[in-house]
Order: sequence, then structure tokens, then C-alpha cells
Amino acid sequence: SEQPVSPATGQIDRYAVFGNPIGHSKSPQIHAMFAEQTSQPMSYEAVLAPKDGFATAVAEFMANGGRGANVTVPFKEEAFALCDELSDDARVAGAVNTLIKLDDGRLRGDNTDGLGLVGDLLRHDVGLKGRRILLVGAGGAARGALLPLIRAGAQLSLCNRTRAKAETLANLIPGADIQVVNGESIDTAFDVIINSTSASLSGELPALSTHAINSRTVCYDMMYAAAPTPFNLWAKQQGAAACIDGLGMLVGQAAESFYLWRAVRPDSKRVLMTLRQSLL
Ligand code: ATR
Repeated sequence: SEQPVSPATGQIDRYAVFGNPIGHSKSPQIHAMFAEQTSQPMSYEAVLAPKDGFATAVAEFMANGGRGANVTVPFKEEAFALCDELSDDARVAGAVNTLIKLDDGRLRGDNTDGLGLVGDLLRHDVGLKGRRILLVGAGGAARGALLPLIRAGAQLSLCNRTRAKAETLANLIPGADIQVVNGESIDTAFDVIINSTSASLSGELPALSTHAINSRTVCYDMMYAAAPTPFNLWAKQQGAAACIDGLGMLVGQAAESFYLWRAVRPDSKRVLMTLRQSLL
């Protein structure tokens, strides 16, 4: 099928995702669906950047019709350092997942991962304002979620295997009152528990007291798979009200990037349904 062409420029606006590896990224599929839904004159490709060649790859892309890009592992911190200006979310995250080429040629960096998470929670009717939220983990994924969760009014607690890293995150947002707790000695249930750790990659669970969960607790795992994640299986066994995986967050961060580039909101729900089907 023919690509739609922009009446303004007579050209297709190029977008891409940069990563290494990049073969398994779902971003090209997601953005192709968004573009088709909204009839945007754009293309979206996957770029495998050499480990030591991210900046060069981005510069070349932007010089050849690139209007914006997503950035994934392992380049999000390097993208942060590369940008001429940054959003508050990117600044607190210390990482950039969305590049926007400004009209004057400068590069703006944003981070839509946290907003993707918050949007997915709200879509599931999980309230955040004034709610007791426990964020498990203190790596890049947790850091990216901090400011959007605080902005949504969450009463936030952090726990991490290495407590000192949670202490560091808790101090990143001036004026925010973030508690650092020991996951194993929690004695009161949370409204929402978000697992941002990579523990499942090694078939492990983050150490968490069963008292953190009661029958009203919603559990969210940033990871996703065809089958329920180990964390969500565990949470269900503890009687959690609901267990949600991170596929909606993936689509949500993409939708926020798309909106930053095109000022149009795609139908994330429909794309999420398609992706869920293709996981099975
Ligand atoms: P990401 O960018 O995905 O957040 P990361 O920055 O490497 O990745 O952070 C991984 C997070 O998962 C950390 O919070 C890590 O805990 P430590 O800070 O103690 O290393 C957590 N994590 C990884 N494996 C874990 C495990 N088996 N149990 C508990 N936490 C784990």
C-alpha cells in the first residue's frame, strides 16, 4: 500500500527506534498501527545502532528526514546526555526514550515510560490519587516511573534489594515525600504494588512480605509475557484483587511518544488487543 504524503512537505516524516539488540522490538509494529489508524504521513523503522555508535546513528537519521525517535536498551542514558533540552520526566528519569527534532534542528528528549504506566493503571480504573503505592525496585525502570506517579498524587513507598539505591531515588524529586521501606518487613497492605525489578529474568521474585497484599491490592508487573509473570502468579496466590502485566505500559509509552510527535492520540486499546493476540 502507498504511504500517505504530507501536504505541507510533500514528504513522509521518518521515525525510528534505536537499540541494540533491536530485532525483538514491538515499536515498529505499534507505531505502524498508530499511523494507519490516524492517517499520519510517517514511516517508522528499527535501527540497530552499534554499541559505540549511537550518537552517530541518531545524527545521520535526523539529517535524513528523521523527525523523532524512540530509544531503547542500552542507549536511554546516552540519549539523555545527547539532548539539547529535556522534559521534567526525562530529567528525573535520567534517561530518554523519546527524541523530538525541534524546528530549529535541536534535539529535545522526553521519557514517556512512566506516563505509559500511569495511563495503563488509570485505564484499568486503578486510582492513584492519595493511594498507598509500593514501587518495587530502584533501577532505570523504577526511576522512570517516579515523577509521573508523584504527579498523579500517589502516596509513594519504595523498596529495593539494595536499599541504598531506593534511598537515592527517594531523594530525586525535591519536595516529594517518598518513603523507603524494607520489603520483607512490610506489615500493612498497599493499594497498588508495582514490580519494576528484573528479578523474573533470572526466575526469581523480589523479597516481599505477604502482608503487603490484601484482597483489595492491585499488582502490576512492568514485564509481560504470553503467560502470567512469576510476580503476578505469586501476587494472585497471595489473594491480590487483580494482576496486570506491562504490555499496556509498552503500548502506553508508545502512544505518548506518538502524541509528542504528531499531536494526535491513537487508539491504544485497539492496538493493545492486537498485540495481546499476537503474544499467544
Ligand atoms: P531496569 O533498567 O530494568 O530497571 P536495572 O537498572 O538493572 O534494570 O535495575 C534492576 C532492578 O531489579 C534493581 O532494582 C535490582 O535490584 P538491586 O538494585 O538490588 O540490584 C532489581 N533486581 C534484579 N534482580 C533481582 C532479584 N533477583 N531480586 C530482587 N531484585 C532484583
